Amino acid sequence: MDTAKLTLPDQEIELPIIVGTENEKAIDISRLRGTTGYITLDSGYGNTGSCASGITFIDGEQGILRYRGYPIEELAGSCSFLEVAYLLVNGNLPNADKRADFLDKVTKHTLIHEDMKKFFEGYPANAHPMAILASMVTSLSTFYPDGADGELDIIRLIAKAPTIAAFSYKKSVGQPFIYPRNDLDYASNFLRMMWAIPSEEYEVSPAVRDALNLLLILHADHEQNCSTSTVRMVGSSQANLFASMAAGVSALWGPLHGGANQKVIEMLERIRDDGGDYAKYMDMAKDKNSGFRLMGFGHRVYKNFDPRARILKSAADNVLTELGLSDPLLDIAKGLEEVALADDYFVARRLYPNVDFYSGIIYRAMGIPTEMFTVMFALGRLPGWIAQWKEMRDDPKGRIYRPRQVYVGSGERSVG
Ligand code: SDX
Repeated sequence: MDTAKLTLPDQEIELPIIVGTENEKAIDISRLRGTTGYITLDSGYGNTGSCASGITFIDGEQGILRYRGYPIEELAGSCSFLEVAYLLVNGNLPNADKRADFLDKVTKHTLIHEDMKKFFEGYPANAHPMAILASMVTSLSTFYPDGADGELDIIRLIAKAPTIAAFSYKKSVGQPFIYPRNDLDYASNFLRMMWAIPSEEYEVSPAVRDALNLLLILHADHEQNCSTSTVRMVGSSQANLFASMAAGVSALWGPLHGGANQKVIEMLERIRDDGGDYAKYMDMAKDKNSGFRLMGFGHRVYKNFDPRARILKSAADNVLTELGLSDPLLDIAKGLEEVALADDYFVARRLYPNVDFYSGIIYRAMGIPTEMFTVMFALGRLPGWIAQWKEMRDDPKGRIYRPRQVYVGSGERSVG
């Protein structure tokens, strides 16, 4: 094993170099403080690996994304979301028997306890659906206490999340809840719970069903992003699955993370209402004092195209065409992308469209309200969070996550 030499003022040490499957290299500093008294400092963890993981591989330079070794483009083109969920959680794509068993179990657990319906009555009509999702996911632990049944709790979470999401929408529009049905696939069930009303059935459009299946797959995992790291952090204290996932929902809500898809649409609407003046908003995005960022652009890891954005850009065109719709926001998004990718500021910082830049266009075409976009992201990300949580919990050498700090506050002083 190669080593890295670290020369300190009073000593020199060698640290092991770890090499990953795709030849990524890391310096293992787990002995650093014990042998030197030093810690490292890396605000935002841009240079720090929290774990070794076998779930998702991203090459930000090449714009590569693979779940358990399968390129995202292949999974998006040939799998159902539940097959990808099974892959992420269990490590391999299911064979026919395992697939049937998994789908059957998820289908049979889509109802939420009738008592949970009462929770919705307490929320104001304008409650943000991410707040509802986070609290409802935590509340699942009151009905299925503390990891009583690991594998079944995973099934319950994947199965009930769309029901909770659809119920939060029905609550917001004052319509009666539509219960899940066991004869529908995962995506169709969600769409029906969203759009059916008691007096008339909802005919699921294959184009919308397939678009939702694609969106869920593209959001399913993304290695150690902010919300996944949160799930691992909370789960490392031995908090139960539901509490850990609810923490992930809260982290995802932030506008710099999963909340960006809602902000992208709000930004595109603002540009549309302002006469489509790209140059003005590009200048604002480059002006640090403007407080404005080109939402849906940039990424901590991708310094090339986010492969998910590439897929979603063409899917947005296809969905609108298949539904016979046009959306001026898509034209504005494409125009912004063209201008940004030719602009020195964006080129120098290697800022490209990320997964959130085009996803909102498709959610809009499906009729999903803007405030639910991040809920849709969370529905997709659940199996990834679960897989990462499980990998962390199954690690025999796993420890509670507890970073150190450099203290820069007051020296000792007395109340006097
Ligand atoms: C997701 O991590 C993941 O994998 C996340 C995700 C997943 O699947 O889990 O991919 C999902 O969260 C996608 C990102 C969604 N967020 C946005 O679209 C919000 C807009 N983007 C940015 O806020 C930003 O690009 C981040 C948060 C995504 C990344 O931030 P970093 O890595 O901390 O980068 P930075 O803020 O240090 O930016 C580097 C430079 C800065 O300029 P300088 O100080 O070098 O002069 O680029 C600038 C930034 O000001 N910059 C932008 C910009 N993004 C970065 N300037 C204008 N518009 C932007 N969008």
